[in-house]
Amino acid sequence: MKIAIAGGTGTVGKHVVVATTTAGHETVILTRATGTDLITGTGLTAALQGVDVVIDVSATSSLATRESVHFFGTVTSNLLRAERAVGVKHHIALSIVGAAKVNANYYAGKAVQEKMLHAESGGWSLLRTTQFHEFTQQLVQHGKVGPFQVVPTIRSQPIAAAEVADELVSIAAGDPRGLEPDLAGPQEERMADLVKRLLRAEGNRKPVIQIPLPGRWGRGMRDGSLLPAPGTRRGRETFAQWLESRDC
Ligand SMILES: NC(=O)c1ccc[n+]([C@@H]2O[C@H](COP(=O)([O-])OP(=O)(O)OC[C@H]3O[C@@H](n4cnc5c(N)ncnc54)[C@H](OP(=O)(O)O)[C@@H]3O)[C@@H](O)[C@H]2O)c1
Repeated sequence: MKIAIAGGTGTVGKHVVVATTTAGHETVILTRATGTDLITGTGLTAALQGVDVVIDVSATSSLATRESVHFFGTVTSNLLRAERAVGVKHHIALSIVGAAKVNANYYAGKAVQEKMLHAESGGWSLLRTTQFHEFTQQLVQHGKVGPFQVVPTIRSQPIAAAEVADELVSIAAGDPRGLEPDLAGPQEERMADLVKRLLRAEGNRKPVIQIPLPGRWGRGMRDGSLLPAPGTRRGRETFAQWLESRDC
């Protein structure tokens, strides 16, 4: 099978590339660095020639509502149009547990992406997972404030990105099924604690300050909206195990 990975150089995208290759599939990476711009559409139709499945794990680094809605709306629309034009049979997208309900800031873009897929008559699968263990690294990048590390108050049940990648590749091997059952990590954690453990593991003693973000976005992060429903299937690797195995 030939699988195109939109965002194949990103946090989860790198793992998706490894998982597709390991499973014996031919892999095409769609990112700006590899010559495809998913916003302008440059290089997209050519890159999708002969592709059977597209796994969209692209993302914007912007947390603002307008940018996020523009990014996920435009990328989804460009991908679906190009896929139709060249005969791709299966579009797979990755979203975040609870994001569409919170529907603010970055999550407003995820809500648009989900809505666009639900409006399609078929040919798509959508997996929602919780935050990745690797999300702590993204929070470190976003939250450097002078000598402090600032982390929003977030209740989450994070999962290893590698396990999410394996699940996406197993979805790619089957027929399009619409909304997939959610996938969460093994246990609930407080993001500020995890960021602190990550920094300390790297020998960084910076004080970590947890702050509740204002508005619907901040409230959704701290009120449990991002937690999986009872009975949601769970990944295996804990944050502690991920942290320990990271440099191997
Ligand atoms: N992070 C989490 O904890 C988490 C949890 C659950 C679900 N998700 C979802 O998983 C997906 C991937 O997230 P991530 O954190 O892995 O993303 P990421 O690390 O920020 O990677 C983003 C990827 O998108 C590509 N990209 C950005 N703009 C592009 C453009 N205009 N054209 C082509 N490629 C572009 C980037 O490559 P270039 O910059 O080279 O173009 C990169 O490969 C997103 O849909 C996100 O909402 C994330």
